[in-house]
Amino acid sequence: MNTAKRRTVIAGNWKMNFTPSEAKAFIEEIKPMVAGKDNCDIVFCAPFVSIAAAMEAAKGSNIKIGAENVHFEDHGAFTGEVSAKMLKEIGVEYVLVGHSERRQYFGETDETVNLRTKAALAAGMKVILCLGEVKEQRLSGITDEVVGMQTKLDLAGISVEDLKNVIIAYEPVWAIGTGLTATPEQAEETCAVIRRVVASLYGDDAAEAMTIQYGGSMNDKNAAELLAKTNVDGGLIGGASLVAEKFTAIVDAAQ
Ligand code: 13P
Repeated sequence: MNTAKRRTVIAGNWKMNFTPSEAKAFIEEIKPMVAGKDNCDIVFCAPFVSIAAAMEAAKGSNIKIGAENVHFEDHGAFTGEVSAKMLKEIGVEYVLVGHSERRQYFGETDETVNLRTKAALAAGMKVILCLGEVKEQRLSGITDEVVGMQTKLDLAGISVEDLKNVIIAYEPVWAIGTGLTATPEQAEETCAVIRRVVASLYGDDAAEAMTIQYGGSMNDKNAAELLAKTNVDGGLIGGASLVAEKFTAIVDAAQ
């Protein structure tokens, strides 16, 4: 984490957890626990139906609420999808794009990830763009190539100005929900690779200013070591974002 150059962002991804009333109760519980902890931005990405309740509960606090996905068209015949315009209108500031579960179970490709990213940016939201290699790719020694290609394809056509509103979350797929965490060295190495690719596309200043998070079984025990790395500027947290004490400990590790 290099706070001199970039903002640390600790974000929870609730995935398909927390009904509106559960989201409200959780935010009310954690709000006083993270109050005044301003060395990082704190975000929770909620299921669409729970966003409004979470935002209402977070009012006046240092907690921001995001969505977990967004469609790339403004409106139209796309059953089950939600547009950037809709999210923007209810005040959503952040949106996750390209999570590996979307890629794995819902046919998300780098092309659609790129389109969704552009739509969210055009609507004035910040994007947490998720990418990362699967286990076989790491074992074959092609992690750098995989994340490099994802970075290039997912950011295609995005201006250096819009890039300021993009956070990349490096999430090795083999570490998500498995209890297996990348070592701090692996997280550092791959986040640095992503930053180098961003530098090759946008220049050193833009790359140095970009927040790059690590995600994948980050928890209250391992967060400090991971966040201590120069190129790890925050975390995207699944399981541990559902437990107020654990998430607060991660926020503390980033202070
Ligand atoms: P876990 O923290 O549960 O491994 O999930 C990580 C993740 O997918 C965050 O987006």
